[in-house]
Amino acid sequence: MSRIVHRAKARAILAVAALAAAAFAPPLLAGQKLGEVQGARTADDIYAKTCGYCHGRNVGPIILGRAIPADTVKYIVRHGQNGMPAFRPTEVTPAELNALATWVEKSAARKQEHGY
Ligand code: HEC
Repeated sequence: MSRIVHRAKARAILAVAALAAAAFAPPLLAGQKLGEVQGARTADDIYAKTCGYCHGRNVGPIILGRAIPADTVKYIVRHGQNGMPAFRPTEVTPAELNALATWVEKSAARKQEHGY
C-alpha cells in the first residue's frame, strides 16, 4: 500500500471517530449550562409560576424572607395544608423541590409582595 493511500485512510478513520463522538454527546439546549439537568427549572422560576400564583398575592401567606426551614417547605409542598394544594413529583420534581425549599429558606423578603 502506498504511503499516500495509508495517510488518507488514517484521516478517514479520524473523521469517523470525531463524528461518532459528536453523535454521542447530548446536544445542549439554548441557555443550558453544561452539567445542568435537562428540563429542570430554577427555584426562582418555579416560585414565580407555581407558588407566586398564591404566595405574595394575598391568597397565601408571605413565605419569602421568613427563614422557613427547607424541610418544612418540602413537607407542605408534598402534603398541602388547608387551602394549599399538594404538589406531586410530576409537577415539582424531587430535585426541583430540594432546590426550591433551600431557596425559600434563604430568600430575602420582597417588598412588593402582599399576603398575611
Ligand atoms: C393555590 C394557592 C397556593 C399555591 C399555588 C401554593 N400555596 Fe403555599 N399556601 C397556600 C395557603 C392558602 C397557605 C396557608 C395554609 C394554612 O392556612 O394553613 C399556604 C402555606 C404555605 C406554607 C406555610 C407558610 C406558613 O406561614 O406556615 C409554605 C411554606 C408554602 N405554602 C409553600 C408553598 C410553595 C413552596 C409553593 C409552590 C410550590 C406553594 N406554597 C404553592 C396557598 C398556596
